Amino acid sequence: MRFALSVNGQAHTVSAPPLKRLLDILRDDLGLFGTKEGCGEGECGACAVLLDGRLVNACLVPALQLPGRDVRTIEGLGSAEEPDPVQKAFMQEGAAQCGFCIPGMVMAGRALLNKRPRPSRDEVRRALAGNLCRCTGYERIFRAIDTAAAWEEEDRGGPAQEVVPTVRGVTKLADALEMLEAHGESVTIVAGATDLFVDLKLGAVKPERLLDVTGIEELGRIREEDEALVIGAAVTFAQCLDDPLMQARYPAVCTMAAEVGAVAIQNRATVGGNIISASPAADASPVLMALGATLRLYSAAGERRIPLPEFYTGYRQIQRRPDELLAAIELPKPGARSRQAFYKVGTRRAQAISKVTLAGVASLDKENRLGEVCLAAGSMAATPVLLPTVADRVTGRQLLPDTLASLIAEAGEVTRQAVKPIDDVRSTARYRAETLAGLVGRFLTEICERELPRDA
Ligand code: FES
Ligand code: FES
Repeated sequence: MRFALSVNGQAHTVSAPPLKRLLDILRDDLGLFGTKEGCGEGECGACAVLLDGRLVNACLVPALQLPGRDVRTIEGLGSAEEPDPVQKAFMQEGAAQCGFCIPGMVMAGRALLNKRPRPSRDEVRRALAGNLCRCTGYERIFRAIDTAAAWEEEDRGGPAQEVVPTVRGVTKLADALEMLEAHGESVTIVAGATDLFVDLKLGAVKPERLLDVTGIEELGRIREEDEALVIGAAVTFAQCLDDPLMQARYPAVCTMAAEVGAVAIQNRATVGGNIISASPAADASPVLMALGATLRLYSAAGERRIPLPEFYTGYRQIQRRPDELLAAIELPKPGARSRQAFYKVGTRRAQAISKVTLAGVASLDKENRLGEVCLAAGSMAATPVLLPTVADRVTGRQLLPDTLASLIAEAGEVTRQAVKPIDDVRSTARYRAETLAGLVGRFLTEICERELPRDA
């Protein structure tokens, strides 16, 4: 394919196959070697650039999503004579430690300050969680971003990056369905592409036809319909985090979205993609299952609705037919006294594949009696699973400080019996079952503490 894009404010025309990575286009076609390749899988941040002003990993962006887009690389941030404040602060603080990781760190810092001009140290840490420094010199890096933020506060308006708005033709849903009807078996649907390049690297996919659904407006929106919230399948985790209705009604989804990966991944990975990948360790499914999600699948023949738990039929097996497109995820409105939580246990806090996840949703009556409890877990079986026996055991029970410990012990015992995880490279079956039991206890404790503060 031949297409035009803007890189560092200059128009370029590029010829590239649809799956050529932005990283390779920058380095091979445009000679911009500041963007580096580390892992090639979205885990190290060495290739971080700004795409339409948002931080992304260039190793995960396919050429087919680049026509008309605006890319900013480290070369476009500033010059040797006039560096961007983030670059200047990295030099002043001695944070420019090696040429390999620092360009990505600078881009991540720039993206953060564009969005949040005076970030806290915690926000700086979270913004750079997807950028690995192999020499572990993080302290100077964080300090450099603080310094740049302080300079920019003094001199507001100077360094902000101009984001050129992207004009993309809206692809019609009907066109996507027509293509799926005609060629469904051979079509690879592309949205965030955060798994695609990992699968390509592993040889797990050999796409024949690519269908980019990110231009379909309906798929990229979160909207209210009657009482339900409808999340378009191509909505990113960053959109979930920013959405006021999501924050107000479904805090567990926001907790999950903040932990699903680092910022560059949150900006690209989609809720629908996380469901379709059908990984038992995928973070979105347990929380959406616990919230009672129903999937909307469209095809040229019409619409099909499937409750999320029924969508998974086995390890990486789903009910989507080749002619169908996952269009949206529908969440019912939670009750007034609904309590929600999402817990993730991984090898490290940022950017980790889950070892155990638990999502819990519970309603409470006026006497703090639990009703309508729904619990779901990830990484426990071949698919994400509901925990109905655990939910049944605690439903109807009153949360009282005096009896909480025995309720937790009971619920923990039922949890251990309810799951049959297996040993794998990330952790043992016993570890997973015990951790899950502990998380169920944590959910009950947190509700109890919130409803009955210790000093009440
Ligand atoms: Fe590591 Fe892209 S090369 S995230
Ligand atoms: Fe590259 Fe630390 S900055 S290894």
